[in-house]
Amino acid sequence: MRLIAAAALLSLSLPALPADAARPIRFASEAPRTGALVLPLGSAADLGTRGAMLDSATRAAVMRALTSAEFDYSANSTLALRGLGSWSQILVVGTGAGPLDAFKLQEIGGVAASETASIDGPVTLAASGLADPAQIAVGADLGSYSFDRYKSADSASPPRPGRSAPLTILTGNAGSAQSAYARSGRALVDGVHLTRDLVNEPANVIYPETFVQRTQEAFRGVGGVAIQVLDVPAMERLGMGSILSVGKGSARPPRMLIVEYRGGNSPASPIVLAGKGITFDSGGISLKPGAGMWEMKADMAGAAAVVGAVLALAKQQAPVNVVAIAALAENMPGGGATRPGDVVKAYNGKTIEIHNTDAEGRLVLADAVAYGESRYKPAAIVDLATLTGSKVTAVGDEYAGLFTRHDGLAQQLSAAGETTGELLWRLPLHPNYAKDMRSDIADIKNVVEGGQPGASFGAHFIGSFVTPATPWAHLDIAGNEMGSSTGPTVPSGAAGYGVRLLDRFVRDFRPVAAAK
Ligand code: BES
Ligand code: MN
Ligand code: ZN
Repeated sequence: MRLIAAAALLSLSLPALPADAARPIRFASEAPRTGALVLPLGSAADLGTRGAMLDSATRAAVMRALTSAEFDYSANSTLALRGLGSWSQILVVGTGAGPLDAFKLQEIGGVAASETASIDGPVTLAASGLADPAQIAVGADLGSYSFDRYKSADSASPPRPGRSAPLTILTGNAGSAQSAYARSGRALVDGVHLTRDLVNEPANVIYPETFVQRTQEAFRGVGGVAIQVLDVPAMERLGMGSILSVGKGSARPPRMLIVEYRGGNSPASPIVLAGKGITFDSGGISLKPGAGMWEMKADMAGAAAVVGAVLALAKQQAPVNVVAIAALAENMPGGGATRPGDVVKAYNGKTIEIHNTDAEGRLVLADAVAYGESRYKPAAIVDLATLTGSKVTAVGDEYAGLFTRHDGLAQQLSAAGETTGELLWRLPLHPNYAKDMRSDIADIKNVVEGGQPGASFGAHFIGSFVTPATPWAHLDIAGNEMGSSTGPTVPSGAAGYGVRLLDRFVRDFRPVAAAK
């Protein structure tokens, strides 16, 4: 195990993880009138208030430019103006009409960060009158993320001269914004960035054992956290035959990684967040076609999201009890691999006939949710998985698919999705699916031949490893994990999808009534 890890590191001779690539952020009520100025405006009238630091001639010139450009103030539209007043550049960012919630404020920060990345020198962002300026800082951090540790200096994307000069957010209550950012904003950013790093890393670097190591490093020194790792003998003793069957074709052994964070009153039962952690999905013996197969390095995005969310909550020291369970395996077609037709037994004693080894996410999650339920008696279980292409066909990457029989849970998850911009769309879980998934020789089979609705069958399968009384929801995040169309706080590559959603959901959670 040590040898494998060492070999991978040697062959790539990895640089240390980069220090934060974004501009340092600070809050102030006054700033020097030089460098670049970012001016968020929802209407012409905002220029009078938010542009109060401009002298009247400069303000009039900005107004003329906005009118002449027919600037429409729509969210995330920009107009860059040069040579006005004492500023090297004035960048107007549209905010759209209506109230600016946390997500919209983050988008302003994201636009500001990306549009000023190549500016050499300080940037000031005018935020007076905006309710929660710390969210602008969060968005700037999220939008300036880049994953370039494997790029040599000469092949790296355009240099970012502005990295060391600060972004100053101008606000009347700089002190409270600074402490909100330090207390909770940075924690959320750290959680999203852990998830992005894990998903962006190639599968020769991140496999079950190294996923565990990276997570342990990220949590080092964070209070209230206990981490436990189940290796193959431990999972054999516990009877987790389902996840073990997925890992058998790979030289990299599977792991079940459990991260507990206790920040709430000790008797309160925790929320369990289970994540699909397939560090590479070749399909196994039911091998995938070659085109685009590389993207299956991101098939651990659910696991990365649940550990990222718990990191965010723990670093905030949020008053909640939450457990992340990352079900980690590599799905490969080696000589020891599971065959179509094999029967395995899951942690809860249910037997599974495996008809398609490419439907492996539900297999690793079967053990994760059954174990999470029996060990923690949780108030709710939510699993996240890049589970099916069928989900992408149904709702694309604008939404994740939400499956649950608990309306109260659906409502809370959907609300968290609305406020964080990580939107959910509810899809069906019909009782008939139980008949469709019947196996001739075992309790259940893992796919329905030629079966539609595919995303719902996957959801049904996972749900059948949780007893009906426990509030459970499944989020199919296939397509959301990479290059998603979620705007200026999501750079190319890994989106870090789900961390903001789960952070909000867990902090707002209210106990759910039992299902009808
Ligand atoms: N990891 C894939 C699903 C996936 C597809 C994620 C595209 C992200 C983008 C999953 O393990 C898989 O192979 N699903 C099969 C299920 C089928 C065999 C029932 C699929 O969707 O085709
Ligand atoms: Mn698969
Ligand atoms: Zn998969």
